[in-house]
Amino acid sequence: MPTALITGASRGIGLEFVRQYSSDGWRVLACCRTPDAAADLIAVDGEVSVHPLDVASPKAIRALAAEIDAPLDVVVANAGLGGKTAGSFGAIDYAGWDETFAVNVRGVVATAEAFAPHLKRAKGRLAAISSLMGSIEDASSGALCYRSTKAAVNMAMTIIAAELAPDGVAAAPFHPGWVKTDMGGPGAPTGVTESVTGLRRLIAEMTPTASPPFLDFKGKRLPW
Ligand SMILES: NC(=O)c1ccc[n+]([C@@H]2O[C@H](COP(=O)([O-])OP(=O)(O)OC[C@H]3O[C@@H](n4cnc5c(N)ncnc54)[C@H](OP(=O)(O)O)[C@@H]3O)[C@@H](O)[C@H]2O)c1
Repeated sequence: MPTALITGASRGIGLEFVRQYSSDGWRVLACCRTPDAAADLIAVDGEVSVHPLDVASPKAIRALAAEIDAPLDVVVANAGLGGKTAGSFGAIDYAGWDETFAVNVRGVVATAEAFAPHLKRAKGRLAAISSLMGSIEDASSGALCYRSTKAAVNMAMTIIAAELAPDGVAAAPFHPGWVKTDMGGPGAPTGVTESVTGLRRLIAEMTPTASPPFLDFKGKRLPW
């Protein structure tokens, strides 16, 4: 039975990853900040175990990694903040930006570091849920703080891909589309089912490489 670990699994895109991998017969390690408040996650059928994890804490990530003695076929570093507390240019809340960076960038990197040994044992795949908002070529005004975290995580994932490729582990960032979740809002054009179905197909096709592409959930190549 293949095993996937998902961060930010309480709702939105992360919860849908848990549902889809589980209904496909995978064992799923579903990580979320507050399991007691994650009723939808607890209700998912199958081989799902729920683990408390705040990805802003590298120490907590390392502690969970030490507890898990299983090769991991897939790790999805999905947990993210939309940067609402960070303000915008002219009125940036630097503490809010730090908080967004801690989750969107350091959280992904710490997850990659802590679970690299588990991924190496399975020659597995690490996907970070980034955003087209992190594309420098695509950028215009607005959302400075969120965009810069996603640009940073794209850089980090490129380095991580090169670090892990010699051990047979594939790593890449993905854009999930503009998705109907709490973060994406009700007006988003893409549903979670469609987004995650596409992302899972692409994750299954990942191969170890020192220079991964930046793809959206449909497999379209995006500019860095
Ligand atoms: N929706 C979109 O249109 C869209 C577009 C591009 C990229 N993305 C990216 O996709 C990912 C998932 O977003 P979403 O749309 O599903 O957002 P969402 O509905 O707001 O869910 C965000 C998830 O991240 C978790 N999270 C936040 N901070 C965390 C922390 N410190 N530790 C652990 N988990 C934490 C939340 O947990 P709690 O329930 O505990 O708050 C929740 O499970 C994010 O990285 C986001 O940037 C989304």
